[in-house]
Amino acid sequence: AGEVEVLSLDHAGLVERCASGEYSVVVSQLRDRFDAELLETAEITGISNYAVGFDNIDVTAATARGITVGNTPGVLTDSTADIALLLMLATARRAVEADTLVRTGGFGGWAPEFMLGTDVSGRTLGLAGFGRIARATARRALGFGMQVKFCPRPPSDREVSDDELGEFAGRVDHVDWDELVTTSDFLSLHVPLNEATFHLVDTDVLSAMKNSAILINTARGPVVDEEALVVALREGTITGAGLDVYEREPLLAPGLADQPNAVLLPHVGSATVSVRSQMARLCAENAAAMVSGTLPPHPVNPEAWATRSS
Ligand code: GLV
Ligand code: GLV
Repeated sequence: AGEVEVLSLDHAGLVERCASGEYSVVVSQLRDRFDAELLETAEITGISNYAVGFDNIDVTAATARGITVGNTPGVLTDSTADIALLLMLATARRAVEADTLVRTGGFGGWAPEFMLGTDVSGRTLGLAGFGRIARATARRALGFGMQVKFCPRPPSDREVSDDELGEFAGRVDHVDWDELVTTSDFLSLHVPLNEATFHLVDTDVLSAMKNSAILINTARGPVVDEEALVVALREGTITGAGLDVYEREPLLAPGLADQPNAVLLPHVGSATVSVRSQMARLCAENAAAMVSGTLPPHPVNPEAWATRSS
């Protein structure tokens, strides 16, 4: 029960509507920024984010205001891991560069040293993070005959029990962040964006990586210092990068688009018809629950529900 209004708002409009008292729950997208300032004046009880990530929302500030946040976990795990593999393969085998060359008449026929790339099978994949998407990526990489290592909470570490390792026991190696960085042929990022992971991959980390390494980011742009990455790609500090997310999305760091050794996708990790409709269902279920006065099925901060003001 309730009414739904569809609005297209800039940040000022969002602040104003959230403060108006006309809405109890707001369904948001990643581009909608719910910062502490907005939340301070917001007269809402819930935010249902159409995404699994929620770095667009200051959850601490929301919790303090008794505003519950919902997200869409689980349904986009496989599709995002598919994009991580796609970026690994495309970068290693220079798929985009090669496709462009064929289309522009540059294919002169088979030749022994034409369009040589790097191997994927037999190489070492380092996973930064060991959540759902990292594990789905590990599963695929093992199928490609890769060696898989992970660091569960970079740049620090944490215990991983046999239970948590589950199907991966004896098949993947738990290493610290330094070892992951220095020994991976592919370094793939699967961490949430927060204070600890902002610029996790910076000039120092890029310099510590193998010259032959490829960086993959399907998580959040600001986890990588993108300007430092452009320098590293240009100078051959690393061999390539496959990116689905950017530091100042939708803008790219100057020079990034000129790097032939970068494969650049437009944040499409969850972009399949079935996944987006499953996300829409979870998002609607979260919103409908909050509107009708019950805890949403996928709360990010369930503790906020008990303390909500209205
Ligand atoms: C997409 O980036 C998401 O967090 O769902
Ligand atoms: C994201 O939801 C993850 O679990 O990696």
